Amino acid sequence: MNILLLGSGGREHALAWKLRQSLACDRLYAAPGNPGIAEEAECVALDVTDHAAVIAFCAERTIGLVVIGPEAPLVDGLSDSLRAAGVPTFGPSQAAAQLEGSKGFTKDLCARAGIPTAGYIRTASLEEARAALAHFAAPYVLKADGLAAGKGVVIAETLDDADTALADMFGGGFGAAGAEVVIEEFMHGEEASFFALTDGTAILPFGSAQDHKRVGDGDTGPNTGGMGAYSPAPVLTPELQARVMAEIIEPTVRTMREDGHPYSGVLFAGLMLTAEGPKLIEYNARFGDPECQVLMLRLQSDLVPIMLACAKGELAGVEVDLRDETALTVVMAAKGYPGTPEKGGAISLGDAEAGGAKIFHAGTALTDGALVANGGRVLAVTATGASVTEAQSRAYAAVDAVSFPSGFCRRYIGWREVARETSA
Ligand code: AMP
Ligand code: GLY
Repeated sequence: MNILLLGSGGREHALAWKLRQSLACDRLYAAPGNPGIAEEAECVALDVTDHAAVIAFCAERTIGLVVIGPEAPLVDGLSDSLRAAGVPTFGPSQAAAQLEGSKGFTKDLCARAGIPTAGYIRTASLEEARAALAHFAAPYVLKADGLAAGKGVVIAETLDDADTALADMFGGGFGAAGAEVVIEEFMHGEEASFFALTDGTAILPFGSAQDHKRVGDGDTGPNTGGMGAYSPAPVLTPELQARVMAEIIEPTVRTMREDGHPYSGVLFAGLMLTAEGPKLIEYNARFGDPECQVLMLRLQSDLVPIMLACAKGELAGVEVDLRDETALTVVMAAKGYPGTPEKGGAISLGDAEAGGAKIFHAGTALTDGALVANGGRVLAVTATGASVTEAQSRAYAAVDAVSFPSGFCRRYIGWREVARETSA
């Protein structure tokens, strides 16, 4: 079968690497891809906002499965267009992708289905939002309703800061995403991510991970798309995972189906493990980046039949085999990220993969045959081990073998779990 993968990040490199290993995969195309993806797939130029062009490409190359990596084409309804044209597609419909595309939509669904999450008020104007603040205590959690490339959440320590942030959000600081703002109760606890694949009815748990969102060690500095991750996340014990499935994932999938927009694809739940139990922070309608990199390193099953089963509504009875080992990934970013990253910095991977590590490309480019930085997050250096401590030391050995003078990374990805392993 020929497969088309859409996207260009570290997540998509990991997906390409795994899809390529499948006996079911004849030709793998990627649009637009990156230099790492180009080692696994034929990279093509396709405008994903031009649905007719993507459909025409699929007909021309007899594509049997389209895998949509990022959220924007999902929220834009590309999977609806492809399905209408008879192309099996991994990724939710536009209506179902509202679980990521609209925070207010998700909060209302949680309220109706009794799914544990932070208390909230939806507001449509600055006046309404200011009045709503009176119902909350500091720190104030303010969220632009729509997609904001991971930057739509502000945690304000004081009423003054909350007021300034609200004025910015309603003043167009977040574009159309800020036309509505959700104000939430602040939840205390440790964060973890849980993944489930679904075809709208059947649900296949797909593992846990813990991301590191802040740019600096000790979880300091501004939020990023994610500076590193490991999987599994032992803090999400089997008991807690069973609660997440029963109290969060299952009612979500059921309610979406009953509401007439069944969700198919991967459901990525960002969770807060509070004293009262796991609560939903937010949903994403796609794999996490860099969480996907660690999940793909652990995945032993063939990814193609699993994704195809999701796409075709045939997931019941499908199983997934994830290695018990830990996988850990360290993101190497260009200096300046998450602000304006330095472009064009030289990168040499040397023999960094010699010890068994896998380096996934995100923002890289080839200039006259030389690998250079071409984005904020540039590489995801990934390794496995019997413990988080072991995976961490292997990943950093590989990081230290990479030459990327205009790059940086966090030094203690996995620190929470390493501390627990050390004190156990
Ligand atoms: P999000 O983009 O919704 O994942 O939010 C970004 C980050 O903000 C999360 O990873 C949390 O660290 C934090 N956050 C979001 N909502 C809450 C909340 N209700 N309580 C505490 N922290 C939150
Ligand atoms: N790493 C978090 C995300 O992909 O949203």
